[in-house]
Amino acid sequence: MTDGSTRSLGRRHAIAGAAGLGVVAPALVACGSDGDGAGDGAGNGAGDGGDLTTAADVPVGGGTILPDQKVVVTQPTAGDFKAFTAVCTHQGCLVGQVTDGTIQCPCHGSQFSIEDGSNVVGPSGSEAGSVSDLAAVDITVEGDAIRLS
Ligand code: FES
Repeated sequence: MTDGSTRSLGRRHAIAGAAGLGVVAPALVACGSDGDGAGDGAGNGAGDGGDLTTAADVPVGGGTILPDQKVVVTQPTAGDFKAFTAVCTHQGCLVGQVTDGTIQCPCHGSQFSIEDGSNVVGPSGSEAGSVSDLAAVDITVEGDAIRLS
């Protein structure tokens, strides 16, 4: 007897034609370099020639603090304008007010002259000259406009 086992091998049918699938290479579109104008190197501290304030905004015998520019503009006598850094020389606080002929720091009480920025009262009531004077800032007055020089 014959064991007539038969094998039926499945036929593999090669499926051809897959190459016909449309594979499209992605079109790489180079981004335009249209953002190259940013950051022109400006930002050099106080800036050059920028408007600070107007003469009308600076009281005679007092001053105006400009926090953004970190400058204080004073007018010790009518028509005589001065400007100083508004950053206290003690520990770097921004000065807080201008009264009684002095520029005053709120942090430890230092006071500076509105005429020349000299230290007239040191931190916590210590003697004049305990800290450095406020540095002068060059300004130009044109009509009513007060600008950085
Ligand atoms: S930071 Fe101005 S008095 Fe100390």
